[in-house]
Amino acid sequence: MEKPNSSSGGLWRTQSDNLTKILGDAMKSSVSNEETKEVDSYTLSRKSSKNQVLASPGRSGTSGRNAHIKRGKSTQMKFDFDEVSTGAALSRASSASLGFSFSLAAFTMPPDEIADSRPFSDDDIPEDIEAGTRKRFQTEPTMQIYLKFTEVTYKIITKGVTSTQEKYILNGINGSVNPGEVLALMGPSGSGKTTLLSLLGGRLTEHTLGGSVTYNDKPYSKLLKSRIGFVTQDDVLFPHLTVKETITYAALLRLSKTLTKQEKEKRAEDVIYELGLERCQDTMIGNSFIRGVSGGERKRVSIGNEIIINPSLLFLDEPTSGLDSTTSLRVIELLQDIAENDKTVVTTIHQPSSRLFHKFDKLILLGKGSLLYFGKASEAMVYFSSIGCSPLIAMNPAEFLLDLANGNMNDVSVPPELEDRVHLGNSGRETTNGKPSPSIVHEYLVEACMSHVGEETKKRLRTQTSLDQEKTFQKREWGASWREQYLILFMRGIKERRHDYFSWLRITQIVATAIILGLLWWQSDVHTPKDLQNQAGLLFFIAVFWAFFPVFTAIFTFPQERAMLKKERAADMYKLSAYFLARTTSDLPLDLLLPIIFLLIVYFMGGLRLTAQSFFLTMLIVFLCIVSAQGLGLAIGAAVMDLNKATTLASVTVMAFMLAGGFFVKNVPVFISWLSYLSFNYHTYRLLLKVQYEHISSVIEGIELDSGLKEVGALAAMAVGYRILAYLSLRHL
Ligand SMILES: Nc1ncnc2c1ncn2[C@@H]1O[C@H](COP(=O)(O)OP(=O)(O)O)[C@@H](O)[C@H]1O
Ligand SMILES: [Mg+2]
Repeated sequence: MEKPNSSSGGLWRTQSDNLTKILGDAMKSSVSNEETKEVDSYTLSRKSSKNQVLASPGRSGTSGRNAHIKRGKSTQMKFDFDEVSTGAALSRASSASLGFSFSLAAFTMPPDEIADSRPFSDDDIPEDIEAGTRKRFQTEPTMQIYLKFTEVTYKIITKGVTSTQEKYILNGINGSVNPGEVLALMGPSGSGKTTLLSLLGGRLTEHTLGGSVTYNDKPYSKLLKSRIGFVTQDDVLFPHLTVKETITYAALLRLSKTLTKQEKEKRAEDVIYELGLERCQDTMIGNSFIRGVSGGERKRVSIGNEIIINPSLLFLDEPTSGLDSTTSLRVIELLQDIAENDKTVVTTIHQPSSRLFHKFDKLILLGKGSLLYFGKASEAMVYFSSIGCSPLIAMNPAEFLLDLANGNMNDVSVPPELEDRVHLGNSGRETTNGKPSPSIVHEYLVEACMSHVGEETKKRLRTQTSLDQEKTFQKREWGASWREQYLILFMRGIKERRHDYFSWLRITQIVATAIILGLLWWQSDVHTPKDLQNQAGLLFFIAVFWAFFPVFTAIFTFPQERAMLKKERAADMYKLSAYFLARTTSDLPLDLLLPIIFLLIVYFMGGLRLTAQSFFLTMLIVFLCIVSAQGLGLAIGAAVMDLNKATTLASVTVMAFMLAGGFFVKNVPVFISWLSYLSFNYHTYRLLLKVQYEHISSVIEGIELDSGLKEVGALAAMAVGYRILAYLSLRHL
């Protein structure tokens, strides 16, 4: 991390060597982000960090592995890039401050801001204690879907340097679930639950899968998308929206065209009421940095987002992980209620309490990707004791089943057949305490399952479904028109980032920079060539500043929303073009307000050419520069989708553009002169020179001033071209 004082002190002298130095420092700063992370870091909740990671999967990024907030010694907030790139929100202020730190060194937050952004723990929030007074969740009837899957296998192919390896993640899983039932997928972590769930939900469509999955005896088709709800393990939600806004926007985007706006809003209210979320409907969702609703409420919002479309088939990935047992019970009871309205519910579950366990109708137990049990949940214990495995002490059935799936036979009776194998087998495979090793147990259970459950189930699965109703899927009339989608997404974008809009942080940055510039160039004049050269430095700085700032703000745009975009696109919620346009235009008002403030200060303090025409032209030039620089930022962000790589790429690009901008190097060798034409700094600088000095001379600083049309054209082409590139990159997400 650079020393803020030395580099910001040097900045204002604007001699070319200083600018180069700043750039060098900035390059170092972006590279040394990694190191900064190590400094003075602390985990999410110092009190019980482990607990916290478990307690809020949504807050801690995809896997909770990066649930760290790192703090630099300079008290500058630094964010974990991995976490951000997985979709955890990062405020625009921080992105701005990163862009800013690029050119202006560290921006220091006052202590109270840090206190505010200090992570909090779940303990701070009173959990909903309405668990006792449960409302029944009611939905109107929809088409019933009978889900069957036979011999489902899934393998991944990893390409090494010399060889390609195949790894089976699922080995011939059979099962079925009827409308009105809840099927639970259980198994130790890594056993393939999420994979199976994604496969059943039509989210994995690669060719590396075998077996068949049918919905009312038909294979998966796109038409099913509108009848399937899929709740992922991580709650991908916008942190700054309230519960009500979140569900209402989902309703507006996803519900049928035939409903009016009022009807859709009413439906959102009903869902909020049904989920017992009225009390927190005006609370922000929050994330690890922002205080928001509790983990259980957040999970219910995620579920609400999906059940708003009244799906016939609902998939949930670990909806209870990280919740306390009462809240978990509420969630599972909610699933039961949903199933009772003839919906089909499939959920993975990590470690249910015994109370929860008895709520499931059907159970699939997975171990290392193989089926260990499929059948009624209530009959699982009977089955396992029939093959000789029963608990020796009183045990939660779920705990017992997970022990078995892990091959852990402690406190479990060892079946005679397995004992024989241990004695017969080579000694290396048995464990020291006389218990069979996990791999032998696994083999035994898989074989037992194949012979006992397998045949019977397969027979049942071969028979046709006898549902009375029409089995062909028709496309549901749903979704909003393109224009509505654009407007909804635009509004949602503004609401989500409303705090950044009025962020004093950003405005302070701009005002402070402007004042410092104004002081350094206080009433500068152009009477001598030396003075003119001095003032041209200010113009070049303006051209560089309003290119850096937008680039480094814009690269965050898409990586930050990647998870959300993926989720919503998987559910076909809107057209990508509507999202793209909404997302890029909802930022424009603020992006164009800031340079106005900036120029009002710099222009008059710095004593630039005092005619109305030149002032407004300068402003337009800066606007154009911002829009094209933003385009580059968006394109880099969308193409790379990884903030570490994106910042590195952007800093190299921006540095090259700055150097080729016409201020430092006057005699660019011919073979590299094309770089100048790509540089928005070059075009902006030339335009600014023209506006300021065309009345003095036609050659300024060795640059020949022409009509300026070429430069305007180039900047406009960049603004559009880079955006098209960004859009195309997003299409391949
Ligand atoms: N795309 C993938 N590439 C490599 N390994 C994968 C991939 N998807 C899943 N796996 C592996 O498959 C196993 C099962 O994963 P998963 O279904 O997520 O398990 P669970 O949800 O039961 O914890 C894990 O060992 C995981 O590492
Ligand atoms: Mg999983």
